[in-house]
Amino acid sequence: MEDFIRDMPKVELHLHIEGSLEPELMFELAKRNNIRLPYSSVEEARNAYQFTDLQSFLDIYYQGANVLQNQQDFFDLTWAYLLRCQQDNVRHTEIFFDPQTHTQRNIPFDVVINGITDALKKGEEELGISSQLIMSFLRHLSEQDAFETLEQAQPHLDKIVGVGLDSSEVGHPPEKFCRVFAASRQLGLKCVAHAGEEGPPDNIRSAINDLKAERIDHGVRCTSDRKLVDDLAKMKMPLTICPLSNIKLRVFSSMEQHNILFLLKKGLCVTINSDDPAFFGGYMTDNFIAVHKALNLTRHQLVQCTINAINASFIEAERKEALL
Ligand code: HPA
Ligand code: ZN
Repeated sequence: MEDFIRDMPKVELHLHIEGSLEPELMFELAKRNNIRLPYSSVEEARNAYQFTDLQSFLDIYYQGANVLQNQQDFFDLTWAYLLRCQQDNVRHTEIFFDPQTHTQRNIPFDVVINGITDALKKGEEELGISSQLIMSFLRHLSEQDAFETLEQAQPHLDKIVGVGLDSSEVGHPPEKFCRVFAASRQLGLKCVAHAGEEGPPDNIRSAINDLKAERIDHGVRCTSDRKLVDDLAKMKMPLTICPLSNIKLRVFSSMEQHNILFLLKKGLCVTINSDDPAFFGGYMTDNFIAVHKALNLTRHQLVQCTINAINASFIEAERKEALL
């Protein structure tokens, strides 16, 4: 079964490129850019990746991103992720990047996006991996800051398929970004949002109704509102679920407790993704294997998750046909 899972063609819809920064590359970039890390070794960094909730992770994740300084660094980060995609037979990936994490440190928007997109282009040409880029707003920052970020993205709209919303969910509900999402849609961008990861089911409703999100990132906390579960099934609203992330950030106490199988059986458009694989202990294959082992998902159910991901992707029609 593990061989079957490894060889299965996959589509990833929820991956933060900054969350694919492995400690080895973090140390290499720290050395290259003369930056001091709070860890003395790769091993010490890995040992520090013990989280109690989303915020305890975000603090370490934003700190790790400090080593990313030059266009080449963003290229190397993205290229390393694409090589892992190749190993896991990921054929298409839709990647989040957090420009504010970098522009706040005075790294120009262009440096970030050009480094990432150069690697994505090479990935398409040399590895046959297609991709899309989603610009994610940090929800702990202001609406004004998000508008400034959208402004900076204007010269690069051809490189971005949509906008997302990530960072600390509790206390920062989707409706805070209603206007900037409306402005993004006016520019032809698609909308997705993290909701119902740590926050309440109402955040999922707000992401759909106020932000017009076409996919919900995580969404697993919908189950405390049975009507919402039924509505999500009826709407065929895709959920980009990240099983290993949910365990690491203690959304569920163990994989056996995860509700992914329940949601699949309820007919929701469930997909499996890796979120921040360098921090959560696994890429796509690892996530598929973990849910299979704990919850006994059948081959048919695992394949269904991939078909759901193809259908929920923002791939152009021709490539979608080729993947299905
Ligand atoms: N949730 C919210 N914000 C994030 C995440 C996540 O899982 N990963 C990176 N930023
Ligand atoms: Zn995420």
